[in-house]
Amino acid sequence: MRRIDQIEPFRVMQLLERAKQLEAAGRRIIHMEIGEPDFPTPAAVIAEAHRQLDRGDNFYTPSTGNPALQQALADWYAREYNVSVAPERILITPGSSGAFSLLYAVLLEAGESVLLSDPGYPCQRNFIRLAGGCPINIPVGPETRYHLSAELLERHWRDDTRAAVVINPSNPTGTLICDDALTAIAAYCRAHGGHLISDEIYHGLTYGVRARSALEFDDQAIVVNGFSKRWAMTGWRIGWVIVPEALIDACRRVMQNIFIAAPTLSQYAAIAALGATEATEAMRRAYDERRRFLLDTLPALGFDIVVEPQGAFYIYANVRRLTDDAPSFCRELLECAGVAITPGEDFGRYRAREHVRFSYATGLDDIQCGISRISAFLNSRES
Ligand SMILES: Cc1ncc(COP(=O)(O)O)c(C=O)c1O
Repeated sequence: MRRIDQIEPFRVMQLLERAKQLEAAGRRIIHMEIGEPDFPTPAAVIAEAHRQLDRGDNFYTPSTGNPALQQALADWYAREYNVSVAPERILITPGSSGAFSLLYAVLLEAGESVLLSDPGYPCQRNFIRLAGGCPINIPVGPETRYHLSAELLERHWRDDTRAAVVINPSNPTGTLICDDALTAIAAYCRAHGGHLISDEIYHGLTYGVRARSALEFDDQAIVVNGFSKRWAMTGWRIGWVIVPEALIDACRRVMQNIFIAAPTLSQYAAIAALGATEATEAMRRAYDERRRFLLDTLPALGFDIVVEPQGAFYIYANVRRLTDDAPSFCRELLECAGVAITPGEDFGRYRAREHVRFSYATGLDDIQCGISRISAFLNSRES
């Protein structure tokens, strides 16, 4: 099959389009499908962007990033995780998505494989395919908190495997990986000459527990992160990747060619973001309140939450008690009750038709209204 024909659509976007059509026809839709913060970007970040526009330096930065942002991130890793990272290992990318397309371009030869969890963030497999690589989707369930483990790597690792990806906390499940599991995965990847890639974009959005960076376990781990989620900066398209020294030169050459550089304005604004802890903490507390409300109400309606999610803004629920066809269930819920949630098949194949994902990146009032509507919808199906 041609490479481009292997690229699947991001199905949640189709659901969103239908939701928008219903809204255009006058319906009020409750959005619990989209993984995008509903908060404004912190005021200090916006103020810094204004200042930067006035200063007028809006030209290319070096391809690997504005050295001031690289240094600010290195300081941040020392503060947040107590790890020492040389600033030149921190490459600034257009969103964490930019980091992934960069990484796979650098790491993969045609046909080489990368191990991923199923369910997992769907764009990953497409980044790998676009680079000519081969994603290997490994079914994961509650027994590993929906994460890969060293045992799973052992079973699926091939001679052509170059990396394993951990998303911690996970999208779609919101679960964190155990320290022991992360340590064992890092050791396995190293021993087999591959890379551990840790997607840490939901760090800072954890509840009652601190997410640990893979760099705390292995200083050669590749860590991807960005400003989209914790700092509510999706549209600023700014992220970073920390690579081992040996990869810097190859990454720089690819960056020079495919992006030239990440957006300059966003790079300056990102430095201010790192100081905006009060604003990010307020968002985190609000997400937690919503999470607790959903954890209290969903199980009684028939949505089983097998592992309590402690991070991101997602709840992955088993709907076996309600349907054997989650995609149709989601479509019906949208058409009849005006509530949009995402079917599990957006995140993989494994037991996908039994699962749905709720996003609580939407206001508590809307979430409460959504739950009332779901309850009424389920009652109407029974009668
Ligand atoms: C797990 C994960 N990684 C990466 C991304 C991409 O984020 P961005 O490119 O905005 O940094 C997302 C977005 O939803 C995500 O859920």
